[in-house]
Parts: sequence; C-alpha cells; structure tokens
Amino acid sequence: SDVPLALTPPMGWNNWAHYMCDIDERKVVANADALVSTGLAAKGYDTVTVDDCWMEKQRDTAGNLVVDTAKFPHGMAWLGQYLHARGLKFGIYQDAGHLTCERYPGSGTPDGGGQDNFARDARLFASWKVDYVKMDGCNMWVPPGLTKEQAYRQAYEAVARALRDTGRPMVLSASAPAYFQQGEWGGPDWHRVLGWVGNTGQLWREGKDIKVYKPSAPATSRWSSVLGNYGYNRWLTRYSGPGNWNDPDFLIAGAPGLTDAESRSQVALWAMMAAPFILSSDVGGLTPAGLAALGNTDLIALDQDPMGRQGAVVSAGQAFDVLVRPLANGDRAVAVLNRSAAALDVSVPLADVGLPSCTVTAKDLWTGRSTEVSEALTGRVGAHETAVWRLTPHGCAEPVPTGQLTGDGARC
Ligand code: GLA
Repeated sequence: SDVPLALTPPMGWNNWAHYMCDIDERKVVANADALVSTGLAAKGYDTVTVDDCWMEKQRDTAGNLVVDTAKFPHGMAWLGQYLHARGLKFGIYQDAGHLTCERYPGSGTPDGGGQDNFARDARLFASWKVDYVKMDGCNMWVPPGLTKEQAYRQAYEAVARALRDTGRPMVLSASAPAYFQQGEWGGPDWHRVLGWVGNTGQLWREGKDIKVYKPSAPATSRWSSVLGNYGYNRWLTRYSGPGNWNDPDFLIAGAPGLTDAESRSQVALWAMMAAPFILSSDVGGLTPAGLAALGNTDLIALDQDPMGRQGAVVSAGQAFDVLVRPLANGDRAVAVLNRSAAALDVSVPLADVGLPSCTVTAKDLWTGRSTEVSEALTGRVGAHETAVWRLTPHGCAEPVPTGQLTGDGARC
C-alpha cells in the first residue's frame, strides 16, 4: 500500500528496556491498560510493541513462526484485538537476519543461503492485524560477493516490499544503521546506510541500546546511556523528516535509574530531535515527575511538529549544549542541556538561534510561563536539566533567515 506512514514520530511503548525477555501477555496488557489509565494513550502514546522472545525456537512444519503460548496464551491475533479495542496499535519484533538477537527464528536468509521468510512472516503479521514491525538486524548472513552493507540493503528492501505486498499499512522500524557502529577507522560508518534506510523504513535505530533496567547497575549508568544516545543522534538532523525518523532508542524517563531532572531532560532532548516517543518502562510505576514530563502536551507538540525538522546543535560544550528546532508555524524551539553537576545561569543571544533583531514571546515549556524577550534568553538551568522554550518571533527588524542555523553559541 502507498499510505503515507509515520508522518510524525511514532509514539508508544515497548517492553525491552524494562522486561527484556521476561515478557508475557499479562505484562503487555497491564502496560497497555496503564497507557490508557494514565492518559498517555490519549496524548498519542498508542503503539504497543512486543519485543524479542515472543516466539518458539522453531517454525512449524508449514514454515510459520509459532507464538510461545506459555507466554501469550491467547495468541497474537487476540493481543492485536485487545489493543485495537482500546484505540491502541499493535507492534511486533522480528529480525531481518536468520536469528533474532536472542536467537529465535528470524525472517532473513539462513546462514549459508536458502529461502528467506520475509513474505511469509509479513503475511502472518498482517493476519494478526499488526500495525508496526520492529525489524532488527542481528545475525545477518552476508552472501559471498556482497559487502555487509549490500547484504543489509537487500534484506531491508525485501522486508519493505514484503510488508507493502500484504496490503496492510505497517510502519517499519529498520535497525540496519545500528549494525554499522564500527567502521574501519573505529567510529561509526552508518552514514551510507542512513542514505538508503529511509527508503525502506519510517524510523531506524543507529546507535546503542538504551541501558536496560538492572537494580545492580551503577547509579549513573542510565543517564550516561541517555547522554550517549543523544550524543550521536543530535548530529543526524539531515536524515530526518516526515516519514523518516532517527531513533535514539527508548524513553526511560520516570523509570528507575534516572533522577527527575534527568527524566525531564530526556523528554526535552528527544522532543528537540523529533525522536520516536517510545516508552520502555513499567508504565504503572512511573514517577510523578516522569509521568508529568512524558505527558507535557507542549513537549509532545514539539516532538510531533508537522514540519518534522529535527533540531540542530548550535553550540556544544563541556557544560552545556544549545539546540534549535524550526517549527511549522514559524516558531522556534530552543533547548539548553546542562550536563554539569551544578546549576548554571545561561544566556542565549537570539542571534545565535537565528532570530537576530527580533522580539519574541518565549514560553518556558516546563513552567508554562511566557515572557517577552529581546536580545537574549536567560535563565537558571539546574544540574542535568534541559531548559526548553518555544519562541514566537514578532517585530523582527530584518527578515528571519531560513537557511542553516549556525552560531558558536550561548554565553555562560
Ligand atoms: C537488540 C535491539 C534491542 C532489542 C534486543 C532484543 O539489542 O537493539 O532494542 O530489540 O535486540 O533482543
């Protein structure tokens, strides 16, 4: 089908970063119910995705995937119905290689060659009324004569075709770029992959997994993971647009391991980057501050802005970063991340965010308060907090430049 998909970043929930393989129908249903009862579903968090480990280790004699009925006693068609009846969408995990990351049967070409199962699995998902497929890229067989990149490209193009051929619109989360983090020279070599992945899927992972929840992990490891994923995703602005989203992985705001400030920061940074808003936590157990941040309708509107331009870094430093994001109605969002362990007084000249000679109404999206600003945005930003304003320019003495946003930044 040629229905345009994911014109704004997908929103929802996935079990992986909280439950990993310890997943079952009861947990999925409980989290789906919690999306509804917290009001998050009504605010857009509507796609509930079951990640790896939902199936048996072997296909059936006809070659179909088999749901693990010890975990999902009513099966996947039932789960889809349950979600749809509550206004939610149904997402499922599979892998474009021959095994998933946890070594369940993948859709891809068997190791050594042979028949893939892309069409068969896509038809099965369509029969379950799946709306969203997270197609991971573990255990990819690279046929002789092809480069690794060509093998991934062939596989993901085949996945996209198979999904399209079912006639059922299904969003494709294509993980290919995440498997190109180690180039010959040590750094990521995902840029060429990012050049074609958007022709296959509507969103893609390009980096590491956000740190899963482990009570034994060091206290700061989840914040480092958030900063790490933000750290590379922030440079990928040019690949993003309606129907094509860079995915820095799950929102863990409000989940164990992040402070309230860190939870707010993740939501603000992901919104600035037009990132998918996919929670991966126990939704019923979110902290009040986390729930408030995730449910902040100004931040959701920022993330979901219909122009779909990812924010750009205009200043990056040891202590803080400044990002700017142009919005569909001519507004601009500005965010200041304070990485340091102390509160900072910041001053961001309007010229640095592309609004020289303007007066703006600046709405602080955390407090909801608006002020009139000329010259510079100023404020105190707490440790690990991200300040975020939505600026409505008026009375600009010169036309507002529309090109590349540059500037060496805020003064501190
Ligand atoms: C990879 C993905 C994760 C998750 C696991 C499941 O690590 O990046 O998001 O899907 O596989 O095995």
